[in-house]
Amino acid sequence: MKNRMLLEFENIFGNSEDIKVFFAPGRVNLIGEHTDYNGGHVFPCSLTVGTYAAVRERNDRNLNLYSVNFEELGIIKTSLDKLVYDKADDWANYVKGVIWAFEKENYICNTGFDVVFYGNIPNKSGLSSSASLEVLTGFFLKTFFKFNIELKEIALLSQMAENEFVGVNCGIMDQFAIAMGKKDNAIFLNTSNLEYKYAPIKLEDAKIVIINTNKQRALEDSKYNERRKECEEALNKFKEVINIDSLADLTEKKFEANKHILENPLLIKRAKHAVYENQRTIKAVKCLENNDIEQFGELMNQSHISLKDDYEVTGIELDTIVEAAWLEEGVVGARMTGAGFGGCAVSIVKEESINRFIENLGNHYKKTIGYEASFYIVEIGNGPIVL
Ligand code: GLA
Repeated sequence: MKNRMLLEFENIFGNSEDIKVFFAPGRVNLIGEHTDYNGGHVFPCSLTVGTYAAVRERNDRNLNLYSVNFEELGIIKTSLDKLVYDKADDWANYVKGVIWAFEKENYICNTGFDVVFYGNIPNKSGLSSSASLEVLTGFFLKTFFKFNIELKEIALLSQMAENEFVGVNCGIMDQFAIAMGKKDNAIFLNTSNLEYKYAPIKLEDAKIVIINTNKQRALEDSKYNERRKECEEALNKFKEVINIDSLADLTEKKFEANKHILENPLLIKRAKHAVYENQRTIKAVKCLENNDIEQFGELMNQSHISLKDDYEVTGIELDTIVEAAWLEEGVVGARMTGAGFGGCAVSIVKEESINRFIENLGNHYKKTIGYEASFYIVEIGNGPIVL
């Protein structure tokens, strides 16, 4: 891939002297969905697919940004003196946003650069192509300008870029999973204090299969922010009566004993998901530690049901594919992953059943929804690296 990136850079900027090539992964969340802004646990892992950047420092303050994935947009020309959101800059706003966030924290870039990006994460699939681009940018800034910054802080500044510069109110899961990724491990992260531990993913004779519904989701347009508000409202109502800091402070039992405080049935459903999903995630990691993959899969299935019925973030495409997956032989578990409303589902499938799984599910989905789903058998890779 390094050679390909050198060639791409040469094509756009003439020659490839003095360039460095970087990579940051995408991520998939195994369980713990819509818990990261409720102080709960998540359990994502970084993938071997991700985003590449070939970067060369300039001796002025210009930023020339090009993406092989968006060649129709050409070279996006901007500068370190124009770090404001501009719709016309499209994907390059993520890059600008990270430079902006770094500056806010006094990591100042003195010179601009020419960059060619290329990503092999399907765009808008819910596998965090934007967080990958953000962390990648933070990582090459650190390398070029020798900033003394830890990966964890790069994750936080990437989230800040997304929240405050791009205007998407996401939690910390995606950026953290990407910055801190570790081959063959998922990250059990407590989003209330960022304590984490790695958990080896030993699936024996099974593999992680990601199913892309090819229904593109746009986080900005989705009901993501609405769900966040509903959870905040529920939390505030609870706080009037009981002493908690986040919905994740509640156990299932405590929630059931106090849910009447919320009055509104809709808020009860939303908060129920946040509470139960957090507890499911804690249980799921224990199952893995005990090598109980079957129970882990069962918890994944329950997670989907909760996201469908209580949190209402799935939709016909994700439900069709996940519910059909449950009926297939060799499926340990399947659920939607990421924000929802389209995008991808994640499943664990026994190796010997994968071919039939893909064929049956693909046919069923095409017949029901009218267009194809895509399938990726994925491996868990490392966090950002210099190639
Ligand atoms: C998106 C957000 C994350 C998280 C998930 C839902 O991926 O970026 O912060 O909230 O949705 O779990």
